[in-house]
Amino acid sequence: MAKIDPHFEKVLFDHKQIVAACRKAAKWIDTKYKGKRPLLVSILKGSIPFTAELIKHITTDVELDFIVYSSYLGGIASSNKKIKIITHIKVDAKGRDVILLDDVIDTGWTIHNLKKSLLEIKKAKSVCAMCLVDKPQKREVDIGEYYSCFTIGNEFLIGFGLDYHELLRNIPYVGVLKNELFQKEVELAKAKAEKKIKINKKK
Ligand code: IMP
Ligand code: MG
Repeated sequence: MAKIDPHFEKVLFDHKQIVAACRKAAKWIDTKYKGKRPLLVSILKGSIPFTAELIKHITTDVELDFIVYSSYLGGIASSNKKIKIITHIKVDAKGRDVILLDDVIDTGWTIHNLKKSLLEIKKAKSVCAMCLVDKPQKREVDIGEYYSCFTIGNEFLIGFGLDYHELLRNIPYVGVLKNELFQKEVELAKAKAEKKIKINKKK
């Protein structure tokens, strides 16, 4: 591999591994959804590189749409408290089999909430999630059936759609954020939490 980006502690999945995993995921879709014309719903912005690679290998008919959703606070934390659908799908999902595509499933709140909206508001027939990376140790809520290309522990990832303060989505591989940068974020999050506690005490 060419020189590794300096933000990376280590590379977990190189581009070749990602392409191979997307090919396998596409086969899974081909088999499970043959003749069903599923609607792929890609969650922006993190799932753009994953979606673009995945769809190249799908051979059954699929449609594609996007949701702009915000759950993530920009640093290392994702939160279920600040969730918001900014732009919903434009395609009619009524009675459709939907596959929700995301870069990573962490606490599960993003998938849980979007699934609920697609089933209850958009009246989809079924909703199954698919992600590039799964972090099952962090799960806080049930997300039902899903497919993941890779499974990892409790690490903060960057590259191939996964951002660090909106940067590094363009890197063609996935890896772990440098330890010193991660520690800085942990300190920042702690300081923010303490400040909040102090403000609440004053009220
Ligand atoms: P969840 O709702 O906690 O499952 O979080 C999912 C969202 O949090 C993802 O779509 C990402 O945008 C973000 N996220 C979670 N873990 C990471 C990570 O390790 N790196 C970058 N973004 C992450
Ligand atoms: Mg995301």
